[in-house]
Amino acid sequence: MATRTAEKGILSEAKSGERDQLLEMLKKAYWMELETVMSYLANSVNPDGVRAQEIVESLAQDIQEELGHAQQYASRIKELYGVVPGSLDFAAEQTYLQPPEHQTDIVHVIRGVIEAETGAIEHYNRIIEVTDGVDWVTQDMVIAILHDEEGHRRLFEGYLREYEAEGLA
Ligand SMILES: [Fe+2]
Ligand SMILES: [Fe+2]
Repeated sequence: MATRTAEKGILSEAKSGERDQLLEMLKKAYWMELETVMSYLANSVNPDGVRAQEIVESLAQDIQEELGHAQQYASRIKELYGVVPGSLDFAAEQTYLQPPEHQTDIVHVIRGVIEAETGAIEHYNRIIEVTDGVDWVTQDMVIAILHDEEGHRRLFEGYLREYEAEGLA
């Protein structure tokens, strides 16, 4: 007896086109999270100086959160009948989060984090729009992740404000 396929929703045969489009967006999100893990890991270790301490601790915490996001994207890719890509498909994009020339240049790191979070926020907003009325579960998941990224961005904007107020940024 053949297994019945879903007749309604994103898992249905009729929605295979939407599913393929969505899978590409979810794979991009997955790579963005993993690159962020790499960048935050490096930048949670590299900076020198008393003032870097808060930033370093904040980034060290975020690593786990971003990794959790990558895991959620991976699970959802599989649930939508996709395959989580292998590492050879990875292409780095975060030019702005490379190690600064001076390891005390914490403003470079703060600006890089804001850039990364902004990129994620923009891409996740697109996923939320595309999934509207099409895939409620992915939409719900991405809304929660978006909330985290908005929180990260706001936190680092606060750090930047402090440096700007002191004429250091
Ligand atoms: Fe994230
Ligand atoms: Fe984030």
